[in-house]
Amino acid sequence: MRIVRAKDYEDMSRKAAAIIAAQVTLKPDCVLGLATGSTPIGTYKNLVAAYEAGDLDFSQVKTYNLDEYRGLPGDHDQSYRYFMNVNLFDHVNIDKANTHVPDGLMEDYEAACAEYDEAVAAAGHQDLQLLGIGNNGHIGFNEPCDSFIKGTHCVDLTESTIQANSRLFDSIDDVPRQAYTMGIGTIMGAKSILVVANGDAKAQAVHDMCYGPIVPSCPASILQLHPNVVVVADEAALALC
Ligand code: GLP
Repeated sequence: MRIVRAKDYEDMSRKAAAIIAAQVTLKPDCVLGLATGSTPIGTYKNLVAAYEAGDLDFSQVKTYNLDEYRGLPGDHDQSYRYFMNVNLFDHVNIDKANTHVPDGLMEDYEAACAEYDEAVAAAGHQDLQLLGIGNNGHIGFNEPCDSFIKGTHCVDLTESTIQANSRLFDSIDDVPRQAYTMGIGTIMGAKSILVVANGDAKAQAVHDMCYGPIVPSCPASILQLHPNVVVVADEAALALC
């Protein structure tokens, strides 16, 4: 696991975007695993700026997002599909047909989750998987639990995640209680992984991800077993490292 220290959020975002930009430049038809949350917004802004400057071409890029709230349609302003459109896809020359976010309204969700994993595998797996990290060490929506769940699945969100994400909804009652997420196996199937983290609320989770025991009570700790992980984090998030 390589740790890159960034001065602040802007520095983290620039450094993370440079890694993604290098991937897209080196392999124009790459598969990117993408993430939502507040942390990667600056990274996406930098990618949009690089595209607008003529430095990046997304026309052949395929993307698979980590997760989606169960029950939210893609046009809901808190859905992760909406987030991706607004923060990245609407501003670059990516073919929307090449962008994939789990469907929050899937009916036969077990079959649909299995199909999502099959699609990621058929695309050749993620060349680069971008991840944020939850305050409780979750990645995607893989919450702390008793075992690492391999494939894409439906999860019950923990109180701490519902609380943390309620800042983006009108009221905590509006936060969906369940979500679909790539499993740990789907994430670990990526050829390389880029984790972004900022702020002191992430310090314990970042420490446990990098140096704690590899246990499902801190899902991000599994990343210690991946051969190609880079963590780009600011000083506050690295305070305990
Ligand atoms: C959400 C997402 C994660 C994200 C995490 C942290 O629950 N499912 O993919 O990494 O929370 O979010 P933020 O970057 O807003 O702190």
